[in-house]
Amino acid sequence: MLSKKIEAALNGQVAVEAASSQAYLAMASWAENQGLSGTAAFLYRHSDEERMHMLKLIKFINERGGRAVVPALKQPGTNFKLITDIFRSLLDHETIVTGEINGVVDLCLKEKDYTTHNFMQWYVSEQIEEEALARTLIDKLNLIGNDKGGLYLFDRDLVGMTTPQKGQGN
Ligand code: FEO
Repeated sequence: MLSKKIEAALNGQVAVEAASSQAYLAMASWAENQGLSGTAAFLYRHSDEERMHMLKLIKFINERGGRAVVPALKQPGTNFKLITDIFRSLLDHETIVTGEINGVVDLCLKEKDYTTHNFMQWYVSEQIEEEALARTLIDKLNLIGNDKGGLYLFDRDLVGMTTPQKGQGN
C-alpha cells in the first residue's frame, strides 16, 4: 500500500511524463513543418515513449492501492528557430526530469518504501541513457554547424533511431 506522500510524488511524476510527451509532440510537429522528416519521426516516437513512461506509473500507483491522477496539460513551447534549439530544449527538459525522479527516489528512502524505490530504478537508468543520447545529438549538430549536407544526413540518421529502451516502459 502506498503512503499518501509517495502516492502524491508518483502522481507528480505522472504529470512530468505527460508534459514530456506533450513537449516532444510539439517539437515533432515543428520538425515536420520544417521538412525534417527523420527528426520528426524520432520525436514522434519519443513522445509516444514518454506516454508509456506515464502509463507505467499510472498502472503502478493503481496496483499498489493508490489512485492515479490523469493531469491537465499546458500548451508546450514551440518557439524554435533552429534544430539545435530542439535538442538543447530536450536536454534541458530531461535534466529537469532527472531531478524530479531523484526527488521521488529520495522520498522513497525517507519513507522506507523499498518497493517503489525498486520500481523507480527503471526511470533512473532511463534518464542516464536519454541524457546521453541528447548530448550526443547536440554534439553532432555542433559539428555540422551550417552545413546543409550534414544536416540532411543527420536528419536521415534519425529516421530509424529510437530513444533508449525503445519504449519498453509498460
Ligand atoms: Fe520519461 Fe524522458 O523521461
